[in-house]
Amino acid sequence: MEINKIAIIGAGNMGHQIAIAACLAGFKVKCTDTNSEILSKAVAFADNYFSERVKKGKLSEVEAKLTQSNLEFVPSIALAASDADLVIEAIIEKLAIKRELFAELDKICPAHTILASNSSYIISSKIADATKRPEKVCNMHFFNPALVMKLVEVVKGPHVSNETIEAVMEVARKMGKSPVLLHKEIYGFLVNRLLQATRQEALKLLDMGVASVEDIDTAAKNGLGYPMGPFELLDLTGIDLSYYASMEKYKESGDPSDRPSPTIVEKFTKGNYGKKAGKGFYEYE
Ligand code: 3HC
Repeated sequence: MEINKIAIIGAGNMGHQIAIAACLAGFKVKCTDTNSEILSKAVAFADNYFSERVKKGKLSEVEAKLTQSNLEFVPSIALAASDADLVIEAIIEKLAIKRELFAELDKICPAHTILASNSSYIISSKIADATKRPEKVCNMHFFNPALVMKLVEVVKGPHVSNETIEAVMEVARKMGKSPVLLHKEIYGFLVNRLLQATRQEALKLLDMGVASVEDIDTAAKNGLGYPMGPFELLDLTGIDLSYYASMEKYKESGDPSDRPSPTIVEKFTKGNYGKKAGKGFYEYE
């Protein structure tokens, strides 16, 4: 199945960069968000991104114009998705809201459209039965910042067809990514399971007063060669996302050790979500 038109639902942290990455790969892309402020920020980010690419000499002015002409930010889900071959959902990590969206997409989109979720941990079999096309509903998980990070996790739940998986893997490859395929659905997929182990230990060391945020980050970077420390990364990906992920896991497992750490709860309650809020473990201009 050939994918030409992609809709991205959600223009936040992940969505707007996935949209730009897709249009750079030659797809026709429409991106939307129900929050007009987030949508305006995404438009401004894209304008700035393309002019920076020209300034950096990575694209000519003509190439930048041509590429950007394949990217539209539109004000409604119907405008974004009604003619899409592939929809990538990148909205808030709440299962009930995702299920509502997928049910709506199922009505709006043509029969051939694949509906993929960029969720960090919600497996698509929890969403697929909200549609009449479960064989076309899968996980396609990008990493932050999506314009730079090469990995995409594609997850084949028992309901997903091989054609869907092949088409989604091919889109990821065309985007210059290195997709990996998970043959089984599992909470947190591969990367967030690995990441969670480091994060939990970093938060534990902080809560025990063993070392400062800065020194734990320095230890991870200079002792393990990580590009960013665990707290810098939490600020980048969003403390709200980490909070929701832990709460969902706790709701499912009932295991108190899955609850968000006291530090995460405190920052979440104060709205200190990280970089996007101007404050998290660090402060940002
Ligand atoms: N958004 C878009 N592009 C960015 C960026 C950002 N936030 N930060 C840097 N870049 C781009 C720069 O423009 C530059 O592009 P160019 O070479 O084409 O001009 C390139 O990245 C390198 O930039 P820098 O030299 O300024 O920065 P670094 O070399 O320090 O790299 C980094 C920045 C790529 C963010 C690096 O620090 C890194 O790899 N950090 C780890 C990120 C990570 O682990 N992400 C996964 C998070 S987990 C996740 O996403 C799961 C989800 O479910 C939450």
